[in-house]
Amino acid sequence: MTFASFLSLLGAWGSPARVASSLLSAASEPLPLTPRWWLPTGDSTFAHEVDRAFALIYWLDVVFFILIVGAMTVFAVAYRRKKAGQRTSALKGHHGLEIVWSVIPGLFLLVFFAMGFLTYMDMQVPPASSMQVRVTGQKWNWGFEYPEQGIKLSSADGLVVPSNTPIQLTLTSVDVLHSFYIPNFRTKKDAVPQRFTSLWFEAKQPGTYQVYCTEYCGDDHSRMTSKVVAMEPAAFREWVADQKNASASLSPVERGQRLFTTQGCAGCHSIDGSALVGPSLKGKYGTQEKLSDGSQVLVDDNYVRESILAPNAKIVAGFAGQMPPYVGRLQDDEISALIDYIKTIK
Ligand code: CUA
Repeated sequence: MTFASFLSLLGAWGSPARVASSLLSAASEPLPLTPRWWLPTGDSTFAHEVDRAFALIYWLDVVFFILIVGAMTVFAVAYRRKKAGQRTSALKGHHGLEIVWSVIPGLFLLVFFAMGFLTYMDMQVPPASSMQVRVTGQKWNWGFEYPEQGIKLSSADGLVVPSNTPIQLTLTSVDVLHSFYIPNFRTKKDAVPQRFTSLWFEAKQPGTYQVYCTEYCGDDHSRMTSKVVAMEPAAFREWVADQKNASASLSPVERGQRLFTTQGCAGCHSIDGSALVGPSLKGKYGTQEKLSDGSQVLVDDNYVRESILAPNAKIVAGFAGQMPPYVGRLQDDEISALIDYIKTIK
């Protein structure tokens, strides 16, 4: 890569002049752009602890890199063989030096450990009063379920939370490993099938923060993004009330349409006829479907219900049985709402 193309790459985030000026004043003035060339702003209560540990290790590394590589260069030049046949003096050990370069790094290690351990414990132990949200990773959607508020959201909606309130996420996955990463909050946790993991954070102020999946999970891994939307606590309470009113007034078809996104169906089944990981549902209801064993089945309520609960019972020809079973994850009335919605996809 040439220097010019490197600069133009930086320019994608801000003009080279801007980047250069922020490099010069890096310590005092953060770039007013996201994404930036350095870390994003630290927006959780423990972000500054993570950044402090990172900065200490980083700058110590820079100092020692310069000292060691500098000394190596100076010595290589100063003590080079100056004329042919010249012998270098024999090397002997030096106890004083050995002790200095063992004890000083040892002390640094103790400081790193203390900092790392204290920060890790802060990040690991959620306050007892934390608001609970269940997060389900699924190729390629993040499902958010609020057990106390009775709300379900998808990746597209984002994880809506009150600011200045500790939030505990309980994560799991229905298929493969995923990882829930919020760079601005300096926190990340794997979502593991058949197991619960936990992560907590407290957003310092209202805002919208990017969420990534950081465990390679298949075709659309890079698109498995979402966002955390932090609102003032009063605005959050209003939002919860709005959500409840909105879901109470939904017709069964609208409810099914909503479930279609929040439950991750839309990630694999298009409604416009294009084949994704699974068959499109456009105009499917009421037709004959060809199965991988050569037989045919009528797409009716029973077939749709079975395909939701036990997707591998009948696999459509041309597709691999990749869908996770929804048994235990959807109520009967939710399955009925989904069927009502699927009937309308024409
Ligand atoms: Cu989910 Cu990568």
